[in-house]
Amino acid sequence: MAIHSLPLLPYAYNALEPVFDTRTMTIHHSRHHQAYVDNLNKALADTPYTPLSVEELFAIIKELPVAVRNNAGGHYNHSLFWTLLSPPTLHYENKRPDYIAGFWKLVNWDVADERYQKARITHLSSRY
Ligand SMILES: [Fe+2]
Repeated sequence: MAIHSLPLLPYAYNALEPVFDTRTMTIHHSRHHQAYVDNLNKALADTPYTPLSVEELFAIIKELPVAVRNNAGGHYNHSLFWTLLSPPTLHYENKRPDYIAGFWKLVNWDVADERYQKARITHLSSRY
């Protein structure tokens, strides 16, 4: 049973012209993102992970088969990407799907900040 589905874009395929052309948006959403969703559902079929949401899959990412990890990641990344784009004339409110909001709660921001600070210092010190 397929539980994951392609989210609707919160704007038309041509809404981001001329920055993103209609053809690119159509292919990227209806084919590229759809492929991640289809492959995720295929990879989950007949596994104990079938009923899990993307948020629940991420919580146990280390135990998942590579095909589930890769396609769940692709589905998530694309779902997030669509919500980060906004046609300038539509006053679009940046509302993320629940599972994306839930993902942000899974991130340990103290650890992420520590890693960022270390990377920043390493990067800056390597320039001198
Ligand atoms: Fe893509």
